[in-house]
Amino acid sequence: MSKKKLELVESTSFFDENVATYSWTYVPGNKLFPWEPEFIEFMRNNSRHKTLLDVGAGSGRFAMLIRQKFSDFQITALDPSTTLLEKIEDESIRKVVGKLPDLNLSPEESFYFIHVSMVLHHLVGKTINESKNIVKESLRGLREHLEDAGSLMIVDEAWETYMIPTTSRTLTFFLLSLADRFNITMPGALTARDANRPSRDLKGLVACFYTLSELENLLKDCGFEIVQSNTYSYPPSEICKRFKRRMLLKRWRIMWLIARKATLLPL
Ligand SMILES: C[S@@+](CC[C@H](N)C(=O)[O-])C[C@H]1O[C@@H](n2cnc3c(N)ncnc32)[C@H](O)[C@@H]1O
Repeated sequence: MSKKKLELVESTSFFDENVATYSWTYVPGNKLFPWEPEFIEFMRNNSRHKTLLDVGAGSGRFAMLIRQKFSDFQITALDPSTTLLEKIEDESIRKVVGKLPDLNLSPEESFYFIHVSMVLHHLVGKTINESKNIVKESLRGLREHLEDAGSLMIVDEAWETYMIPTTSRTLTFFLLSLADRFNITMPGALTARDANRPSRDLKGLVACFYTLSELENLLKDCGFEIVQSNTYSYPPSEICKRFKRRMLLKRWRIMWLIARKATLLPL
């Protein structure tokens, strides 16, 4: 039986059209996200080799943070959006236009750290299953570019509904997919999260969020073992509470995981 080719629903134009929203930079003294000190500490204690690939690096916030913390690291920022990459002014950071699942790197290139933050939920196909398979193909591709003793650091948003944890993301995925197909703008209520990032209307964005256990299983299926993980709930502001109520979410959190190549590959 021939294997069906997975087709990624393109999101590059969405990010190119929303550069102002996604241009996050880092300047020394900026407040860090709660998981970033943990990543920095982990990198400091485990950096046998000093190479970092930031996939979906956008305008380079994390790459710039790492450059500031580790001046001797070779840092590569990879993103499909040339407009976002152009925002990285630091010449010591190598920029590559590329995207998951294929990347745009020579097969022999490998890195000791690979960081993928808030990207996996953008890897969508026509169905949830297809999206999961694209994530798996991407994780396997990243595994190929990870040194044997290296670490993959993942950050993403975790959605969990009452009763059946995946209900809200499934409904949201199909709503956004329909809107995308028929070129409809979705109301900003879907994005509101805090006073600093007010709601904005969405056009051309489809997202597939995962629960923590789904992401853990995706990683295991792709030959990774998790060495560290944690979650952070969004601050309990009125906007967050309203969003959770509207989306029927029991838990709405950021999850982060550090994974290494498992010694035994799944059958
Ligand atoms: C929400 S932003 C996150 C940016 C950055 N990683 C961060 O956490 O600040 C999502 C990023 O993923 C990138 N992206 C979208 N599709 C991608 C793909 N298939 N492969 C790699 N990056 C992708 C977008 O261009 C955008 O820069």
